[in-house]
Amino acid sequence: MSAPALLVLYGSQTGTAQDTAHRIGRQAQRRRVKVRVLPLDGYNVAHLISESLVLFVCSTTGQGDPPDNMKSFWRFLFRKSLPAGSLSCLDCGVLGLGDSSYPKFNFVAKKLHKRLQQLGAGMLLPVGLADDQHDLGPDAVVDPWLGSFWEKVLVLYPSLSDVEPLRDDEPLPPSYTFHFLDEKADQSEERPGAGSEETVPSASRPFAARMLSNTRVTEPTHFQDVRLIEFDISGSNIEFAAGDVVMIRPQNSAEDVQLFCQLLRLDPDAIFTLRATDGAPVPARLPQPCSVRHLVERYLDVGAVPRRSFFELLASLASSELERDKLAEFCSAAGQDQLHGYCSRPRRTALEVLADFPRTTAEIRTDHLLDLFPEIQPRSFSIASSLKVHQNRLQILVAVVRYRTKLHKPRRGLCSSWLASLDPLQGEVLVPLWVKKGSLRFPREQNTPVVLVGPGTGVAPFRAALQERVSEGKTANVLFFGCRSRSKDFYFRSEWEDLVAAGKLTLFTAFSRDQEEKVYVQHRVRENAALLWDLIANQNACFYIAGNAKLMPGAVCDALKEALQQEGGVSTQEAEQMLEAMEKTGRLQTETWS
Ligand code: 2AM
Repeated sequence: MSAPALLVLYGSQTGTAQDTAHRIGRQAQRRRVKVRVLPLDGYNVAHLISESLVLFVCSTTGQGDPPDNMKSFWRFLFRKSLPAGSLSCLDCGVLGLGDSSYPKFNFVAKKLHKRLQQLGAGMLLPVGLADDQHDLGPDAVVDPWLGSFWEKVLVLYPSLSDVEPLRDDEPLPPSYTFHFLDEKADQSEERPGAGSEETVPSASRPFAARMLSNTRVTEPTHFQDVRLIEFDISGSNIEFAAGDVVMIRPQNSAEDVQLFCQLLRLDPDAIFTLRATDGAPVPARLPQPCSVRHLVERYLDVGAVPRRSFFELLASLASSELERDKLAEFCSAAGQDQLHGYCSRPRRTALEVLADFPRTTAEIRTDHLLDLFPEIQPRSFSIASSLKVHQNRLQILVAVVRYRTKLHKPRRGLCSSWLASLDPLQGEVLVPLWVKKGSLRFPREQNTPVVLVGPGTGVAPFRAALQERVSEGKTANVLFFGCRSRSKDFYFRSEWEDLVAAGKLTLFTAFSRDQEEKVYVQHRVRENAALLWDLIANQNACFYIAGNAKLMPGAVCDALKEALQQEGGVSTQEAEQMLEAMEKTGRLQTETWS
């Protein structure tokens, strides 16, 4: 059979699957296999029947759902009307990227594999199940799986074995070429585009929202900096309900942009236009022409922990022997442990790696920038306010991520640190954002009670829900809130107390560190078994859990089960069935993030 054209389709939420897909694309190029790498929402699925070799790379999000850019493909693929043999012309592989600490580990990949099989596709090998929890990272599964994949491809297309693959240290041609113009950018800030009158803001057309306030809501002495940030969304066409999320794409700090330009000997004010070498479209988010500053500040994720593909490309570009040998070691199978210790474990950033390899860095050509660095991904925040109370406003609650590793400089979350650094009192601050439907849904019926369990910033969507419900006259509200200390991080205290005084809220608090023994929301759930049994068994209440503590939702569900057993006299099994039934009917909903 003649050499195939490989199509790599990915569904990616945070960029890992995207990076793996591009890495596979480069492996294909080295084997001189014609390859296209596309996001699932950038490919017309109806064309699948005319493909011959397709590799799917997809992640699974927290609740076992497909990533956003895979959703419409998912709906299409699971249509009942698709005939059983419709993909029988296709040879496929499915590589899943997941995290085994979540209950629905790699659910999407497993389901996709089964469905493709059902539709008649020839599955070249069992589904690959990479695991973030693996000591050596997901590549510990990805690499051997890809090895088998290429072996199968060689068996199918023996003509490929006549071709000498490109060596790892031979650089691949860059995907883009930069054409520098004679003019320079003027120093004034380039602004994100504002949403136009007719359209609803989206990823491709965010709304430049003015930040109105950025207030620390934890005590100044408290270890954690949490901000309540308010945006003006008048004139944006943005609408949302309680449970929805806002997407914000962060930017690199001015210092990081400066350091990056210094290391790569780039002039931030230089202006370029971009051309894709293989005719693929230029990223729509980059203006043309574009300044180097804009590219580095808003597009290249230089602050993320680099992935292996970064080292592979860097190694192929290095001319200093010393640096090249070190980089090559990091890319080899035997060097994965070392790479993990150098990079992933201490959360070393790409920028810090560049500083460690100064010679190679100084030689990087701009043409390679878009292959080396992934695009900055938007982050999602549960909206913490309701339009019914704060018209034309959108508020979020942001915990500023900061932690230490063995590296001297503390690690910072890109988006939360960037947001925290913005000060609307020092001048106008515009933040590009758009809104997405969230997974939490609150009951429409006037008298259905809600029980909201939201420790820490988990309370954000519940604040929106309470504002909305109270404004609609819905007063059957119970909130379990947990934080470390009554005096340090009990944010929105007066709001809750006002609602309690008005008879519109029942509040239970758990201050984990105000006494010797830890007290968590699940303890309060257990203590209030009688109330919860009455609400759930007699009043058809809906129960919600939100937060970022990994173990919290499971512990709260266990506490609820115990409460039901204790008060309702039901068996463990019956309590479990009650919760399962509630989950199925949307009366038990969970939203977690990390
Ligand atoms: P801790 O930090 O004292 O352990 C908000 O972050 C609150 O959630 C804090 O009081 C925190 O307590 C608590 N928390 C941490 N882990 C938890 C868990 N597994 N279940 C419930 N609450 C938890």
